[in-house]
Amino acid sequence: MANILCIGAGHVGGPTMAVIAKNCPQHRVVVVDVDAARVAAWQSDRLPIYEPGLDEIIHCTRGKNLFFSTEINRHIAEADIIFVSVNTPTKSFGQGAGKAADLQYWELAARQILENATTPKIVVEKSTVPVRTAEAMECILNSESGNGLHFDVVSNPEFMAEGTAIRDLEEPDRVLIGGPETPSGQKAVQAIVDIHARWVPRERIITTNLWSGELSKLAANAFLAQRISSINAISALCERTEADVNEVAHAVGLDGRIGPRFLRASVGFGGSCFKKDILNLVYLCEYYGLYEVATYWEQVVAMNEYQQQRFVSNMVYAMFNTVAHKRIALFGAAFKANTSDTRESPALVVCRALLDERADVVITDPYALENARFDLGEMAGQVTFEPDPYAAARDAHAIAILTEWSHFVDLDYAAIYESMVKPAFIFDGRNLLDRARLHEIGFNVYAIGKPPLTHFATTAPIR
Ligand code: UDX
Ligand code: UDX
Repeated sequence: MANILCIGAGHVGGPTMAVIAKNCPQHRVVVVDVDAARVAAWQSDRLPIYEPGLDEIIHCTRGKNLFFSTEINRHIAEADIIFVSVNTPTKSFGQGAGKAADLQYWELAARQILENATTPKIVVEKSTVPVRTAEAMECILNSESGNGLHFDVVSNPEFMAEGTAIRDLEEPDRVLIGGPETPSGQKAVQAIVDIHARWVPRERIITTNLWSGELSKLAANAFLAQRISSINAISALCERTEADVNEVAHAVGLDGRIGPRFLRASVGFGGSCFKKDILNLVYLCEYYGLYEVATYWEQVVAMNEYQQQRFVSNMVYAMFNTVAHKRIALFGAAFKANTSDTRESPALVVCRALLDERADVVITDPYALENARFDLGEMAGQVTFEPDPYAAARDAHAIAILTEWSHFVDLDYAAIYESMVKPAFIFDGRNLLDRARLHEIGFNVYAIGKPPLTHFATTAPIR
């Protein structure tokens, strides 16, 4: 039996530890966080994050071998293995501002471990960190103030995606564990392998050196985001021609070398990871003098920003070049379906841009309204938050589909059309709805990467 601790009860720490606790009933798993409200929520019936399947797992593990606490120091002292899953946001100040990862919470966690440890420990990097962070952490942990204890640092990046976190954790494509090639480093790697081998087939658990482990996470996210920016770039061209981006994506994806997944054109990618990790990669490349490589990856983010801005420009252009004082219903606030998370959500980018155009914005979302209100900050005062999509659309000039919630698919769009101002518009930023049917009802329909279906003659905007 091992005492496992996780510092950081966020979107990564919470679900990951719940799945470890479920599959390793012999181990005791504690998740600590500085945020007392968040810990209290993990202990309650209303968990701090929405994730399909999470409630069930928490229900059957919490209080048995899974515990949430704010007593960080005490649990550090008791732990054998410590996962660190604190946030590593993009730095907003000083050197590397806007690109580099802010590692202050990580270093704080390392120093806290050092201060409270009375036995040797394995420290696991769960947060996505720049390459060679483990080296710095090992240096801090094994510094002279460490009363002679030895710490091994291993990298075990998390590849789960929000909305499918539990499935991704239960049946991962791979589990990656990077560690130092020293005998004690290899022993530490083996301990983390053994935990995962309880439920993950052994051939899917791969071990690498530390730096490959760290870099693989940044590279995987950069590749995934690059596919989205690539198909979104093609979507812009489709809108100027008679091509349909779904047909192009299907044809391209059937090539076994390319594969069909992650080729959904959209209003752009969001979430806490993609932009942050790519900018982090860009910063690393610049740091090592690899400017061409940095510029290459930076374009993935630039294309994403263009796609979001293009979506809003198309809306304004289609609605006769003004949306001022027009009610516009945004369907979806979450950065993707099946999560309440709104970090870097394209929906909020669209919302802010429409507010700048002086539109009356109303947002509807089944789970993410609270986070949207928080993330919009001062601008939230100008927005109406409406859980009922029918009420949101009433008297609106336009609907913009910004999250691919299945809740939005089966609404009675004929009734919605009746309740709207005419001509009524739908801008489908997720290619979620049946365009032809909406057009038949009377809507002017604009979808990503498809020619518009309108009831009047249109010309494509210049940009
Ligand atoms: C975070 C990182 O953003 C990501 O790069 C990494 O891969 C995993 O960890 P996430 O879990 O989504 O992702 O972040 P968040 O939901 O913000 O959770 C981080 C938690 O750490 C928060 O609850 C925060 O209160 C906690 N924290 C932060 C601490 O407990 N101590 C600190 O010093 C800082
Ligand atoms: C991502 C990675 O997938 C995961 O492996 C890593 O651990 C964390 O970052 P996440 O951000 O939670 O996960 O969700 P993901 O499913 O990757 O979606 C990211 C964004 O891309 C969403 O806004 C989504 O809507 C968008 N997306 C995804 C597209 O626009 N098109 C696609 O084809 C796929």
